Amino acid sequence: MRLIKGSEFYSIADSVTGELMHSGMEPFSQAETLYIEQTRFKNFNKDQLTVWDVGLGAGVNAVTAIKNAGDKKLIIESFEISKEPLILGKAIHNDTPLIDQIIENGSYKSESVTWRVFWGDFRDTVKEAQRPDIIFWDPFSMKTNPTMWEGKTLELLTRFGFHENVILSTYSSSTRFRGALIGLGWFVGLGVPVSERKETTIAGGEQAFKEFNISPLPGIYLERFKLSHTPFPSDMTSISLQSILSSKMWLDT
Ligand SMILES: C[S@@+](CC[C@H](N)C(=O)[O-])C[C@H]1O[C@@H](n2cnc3c(N)ncnc32)[C@H](O)[C@@H]1O
Repeated sequence: MRLIKGSEFYSIADSVTGELMHSGMEPFSQAETLYIEQTRFKNFNKDQLTVWDVGLGAGVNAVTAIKNAGDKKLIIESFEISKEPLILGKAIHNDTPLIDQIIENGSYKSESVTWRVFWGDFRDTVKEAQRPDIIFWDPFSMKTNPTMWEGKTLELLTRFGFHENVILSTYSSSTRFRGALIGLGWFVGLGVPVSERKETTIAGGEQAFKEFNISPLPGIYLERFKLSHTPFPSDMTSISLQSILSSKMWLDT
């Protein structure tokens, strides 16, 4: 990974593909829009929230969650395969002792925050984490982190992270990713535009969509799945195009 100093803010790039970690926008503003506002983080009617921070990277999303916790107790379960982005990412944080502690111990505890990092491959560590209320799904794209978008990984995400009240946000608007989640029982809706992306994705349980009045994808999106060569990841045998098209989420659109 490489740290790149732009005219207005720092970015971190994957050293093989050059993909930028917080593409096109000041990292903390992007985290506010995509991972705090989009997940309804502040509207959860709970005194304690558990957040899965998938792809800890430079720690921007996790630190933004801490900043927005208010009176709530916050449990952050971060997943990360490499310490490098956080070491490089220290340059963009004000509270560097907090980041140092995470780099050294993989954990941090205060009266209101319990933050631990599962170092290693998400596919191996996911089963150890506490059930989430909110999921920040922020691996690099298919090109850079292909295993994180495989059907097997999304099945694990669903097995350990999905329930009726969970909300997930991601920058991705991939039809294949959305199709996998719908086939696995999630409701999927249109996420807000961010930076150069015209749309992103919000997903969750039916109850969460009802509680927060989130609309599932409009019916016109059915065509995308019908026309797509890969409406879901090709390694998935547990779902079919038919299971995507017949999801009950379309009844609410
Ligand atoms: C786009 S960056 C995340 C940026 C981060 N959310 C932030 O707030 O700064 C994606 C991260 O996912 C991590 N990653 C990729 N594959 C992974 C895997 N199999 N398990 C855990 N983390 C993974 C990468 O190392 C990288 O740091």
